[in-house]
Amino acid sequence: MSSPIALVTGGTSGIGKATAKLLAAKGATVILSGRRAAEGAQVVEEIRAAGGKGQFVRCDVREEAGVRALIDGIVAEHGRLDWAANCAAISPETKLLADSETEVFQNMIDINLMGLYHSLKHQVRQMLRQGGGAIVNISSVAGLKGSPLFAPYAATKFGVIGMTKTAALEYAAQKVRINAVAPGGVRTELLEGLFAMGQFDEAAAAAMHPVKRIGEPQEIANGIAWLLSDEASFVTGHVLSIDGGLAAQ
Ligand SMILES: NC(=O)c1ccc[n+]([C@@H]2O[C@H](COP(=O)([O-])OP(=O)(O)OC[C@H]3O[C@@H](n4cnc5c(N)ncnc54)[C@H](O)[C@@H]3O)[C@@H](O)[C@H]2O)c1
Repeated sequence: MSSPIALVTGGTSGIGKATAKLLAAKGATVILSGRRAAEGAQVVEEIRAAGGKGQFVRCDVREEAGVRALIDGIVAEHGRLDWAANCAAISPETKLLADSETEVFQNMIDINLMGLYHSLKHQVRQMLRQGGGAIVNISSVAGLKGSPLFAPYAATKFGVIGMTKTAALEYAAQKVRINAVAPGGVRTELLEGLFAMGQFDEAAAAAMHPVKRIGEPQEIANGIAWLLSDEASFVTGHVLSIDGGLAAQ
């Protein structure tokens, strides 16, 4: 593949930003999407300053028409969509289930599950038209095991794995590979937001991981880039834990 065309949703910060920069450094033309134009422009500037090709398109994954327009626009300009990393998600509260807010869970479903559904559906449609592609979704250790204080988030992240494995089976024969990564705690805005809620801090998060530290966005991006690449050509329907040993406990 000469210069893969790659889409990274939620590419304006954290794991998505690190993934966009890494894919561009590996020679992909990267379209990063998100809701925040200023942050998107900043990532594009960093990609271009490093000699890569990148552009930002504003898109809220809750809106299916917008997601479809995003992918149609990529195909109109670049002719295809080879890789997609679906990183957009939120984790807005740390509460016991009985104390959690219904509206907060509904919004999480709208972004973490419906947003992924919209993205995956239109990415797969395009990849079927062009004869193949590779997609990586982001689950979490909270999508693999019970995670007290995170029941609504965990429900969405278990859902990511269900959608990933099922879609992988549905489209394996048509050369569309679909995998997921399941990160442990990673130093991003999402985790900092959870620290700000006061239930736990970085030292407590680090202590939970067998390696006694939290991860860096680049460490998750490395796994995503490998799953997207031809080096993972026989890998589909897989959930790759990148978590300092957290899920092995
Ligand atoms: N940081 C962690 O500890 C951790 C652990 C496990 C899994 N994850 C997952 O990693 C992924 C990336 O999160 P992150 O940690 O980099 O945090 P982050 O907050 O930096 O990244 C999430 C991105 O999604 C974007 N986003 C949110 N709602 C959106 C919407 N409606 N439309 C489009 N974009 C939207 C945000 O603006 C942000 O850029 C998420 O799926 C998250 O659940 C993170």
